[in-house]
Amino acid sequence: MDQAVIVSARAVGKRYRRDGTAFDALQDVSFSIAPGTFGVLVGRSGSGKTTLLNIIGGLDRPTSGALHAAGRDLAGLSDGELSRYRNEKVGFVFQAFNLANEDSALENVLTPYLFARGRHRDAVERGRASLASVGLSDLADQKAGTLSAGQRQRVAIARAIVRDPVLLLADEPTGNLDAETGSEVIGLLKHLNHEQHMTVIVATHDPELTEAAGFILTLRDGRVAADEAEP
Ligand SMILES: Nc1ncnc2c1ncn2[C@@H]1O[C@H](COP(=O)(O)OP(=O)(O)OP(=O)(O)O)[C@@H](O)[C@H]1O
Ligand SMILES: [Mg+2]
Repeated sequence: MDQAVIVSARAVGKRYRRDGTAFDALQDVSFSIAPGTFGVLVGRSGSGKTTLLNIIGGLDRPTSGALHAAGRDLAGLSDGELSRYRNEKVGFVFQAFNLANEDSALENVLTPYLFARGRHRDAVERGRASLASVGLSDLADQKAGTLSAGQRQRVAIARAIVRDPVLLLADEPTGNLDAETGSEVIGLLKHLNHEQHMTVIVATHDPELTEAAGFILTLRDGRVAADEAEP
């Protein structure tokens, strides 16, 4: 794979079977993204954004085509190798935060270490540093369920980056936030992209995120919209 490419999709397809009939959630999707890009996936509801993000992150597999990410051919990986890729190279942020509300902010941030191989003596230190980088040092010991929505999304971002992923993937990260809090989260994602050179890919309906993007992929009914297709 080209060194200057961190994610490349070639004719990626995802076919679901519904009651015996085939449904193509993604069809012939091709693109490539350079390391350090701030990329967004846009398109109407049902156009395939989440499906594509999950495939890039190794949460799901394409049913056709090839996807390379962080130097790996994802289709060629065993289930174990795919989960290792996911745990070591990818951080995920979701619309609904997906935190354990009874656990503290710090405990939530440390959950990726539960799945990590080897010993991580410095996990707590890293967790605190990660919370500091999203501006939440003071709230490390507070239960996640008692935090504001914006603070919860910051905790989720701290959790996503605690193991220094090369890819940060976010599925509608501002979808449950008011405009101002959403802007703060966008600022934080931009900062991580600039300062830590993390490649960020966000599925979104939020025009403010689209403005921040160096790469925009528009999906329409599972295909790359015509004006975006590569020649
Ligand atoms: N497990 C599944 N089985 C069958 N169909 C599925 C499955 N997952 C997704 N789909 C279908 O694939 C299409 C794309 O879904 P996807 O969730 O990727 O859309 P999206 O662009 O993220 O939409 P939204 O903006 O509403 O989040 C939809 O028609 C959806 O119903
Ligand atoms: Mg979605």
